Amino acid sequence: MWIHINDPLAEEATEKLKNALPEAKITIEHFEKEELKEKIKDFDILIIRSATKATKDIIENGKNLKLIARAGMGLDNVDLNAAKEKGIKVINTPGANSLSVAELVVGYILSIYRHIVTGTVTLREGKWEKKSLKGFELTGKTLGIVGFGHIGKLVRKLVTGFDMKVLVFDVFEIPEEVQKENNVKQVSFEELIKNSDIITLHVPLNEKTKHLISEKEFEMMKDNVVLINAARGGVVDEKALLKYLENGKVLGAGLDVFETEPPISEIQMKLLNHPMVVATPHIGATTKEAQRRVGLELVDKIVEIAKNM
Ligand code: MLT
Repeated sequence: MWIHINDPLAEEATEKLKNALPEAKITIEHFEKEELKEKIKDFDILIIRSATKATKDIIENGKNLKLIARAGMGLDNVDLNAAKEKGIKVINTPGANSLSVAELVVGYILSIYRHIVTGTVTLREGKWEKKSLKGFELTGKTLGIVGFGHIGKLVRKLVTGFDMKVLVFDVFEIPEEVQKENNVKQVSFEELIKNSDIITLHVPLNEKTKHLISEKEFEMMKDNVVLINAARGGVVDEKALLKYLENGKVLGAGLDVFETEPPISEIQMKLLNHPMVVATPHIGATTKEAQRRVGLELVDKIVEIAKNM
């Protein structure tokens, strides 16, 4: 059995995999699209994170391929229909890295409200911008969480100390007792967009969520709203975000994800250079702890399946 790891997996997880399946051939190397399309012919199991796109043509070339194991949550980089057609199983580790993403979201909110990045950059430039970097307190503000799954719930838990009002929107009905337990109020999408001071997105990217936040939504938002996207780039229309940052309606944005990664378009460059944008290269789940949890959980699942293969 040939298991290929195409994106980085925690070392401890790789060791566990080797020990659990001593007979298996395990290779670790990042192949880009064309090379992977060729090499995949020999693999039984392909392990990926977000960098590898398991597209239809790659999957179709996987003559021996039986399992695609995604270290992380999002499956938008795997063509699930193509995998299904070929009878290839796809697994992931929902929840294992949620805490790290939620913690980054809180970091973004504080960074924007208190100008932590601009303060650092201007100090490095030898400037003392004490007067212009007046921020806001979180306490008393309304936080809107779009998507109340693993990450959304953890964001709510983490901001508890700030005594914020928390509105949530989810396509699923959240039982009254869960709303009470979490001290949140479930509202319609429109209500959340209209009434939140800070909006954070925690939904997958699919046909329904593509450009979920666009001109229409920005128009409805409160002045000085802050938008955080640590979900998927395509959920926010970047062109519209730039427009509303430039016209001052949006106070700031925290972006860990982009419509194309890495971001290279003119609009993306303008966004990244905007003083009120704080950005990171899709590192929401990139912590030692999260990668360990993700890796070990994924290996457990792989071993279970491989033993019956
Ligand atoms: C995920 O879907 O788990 C996150 O985007 C993290 C990642 O894959 O890097």
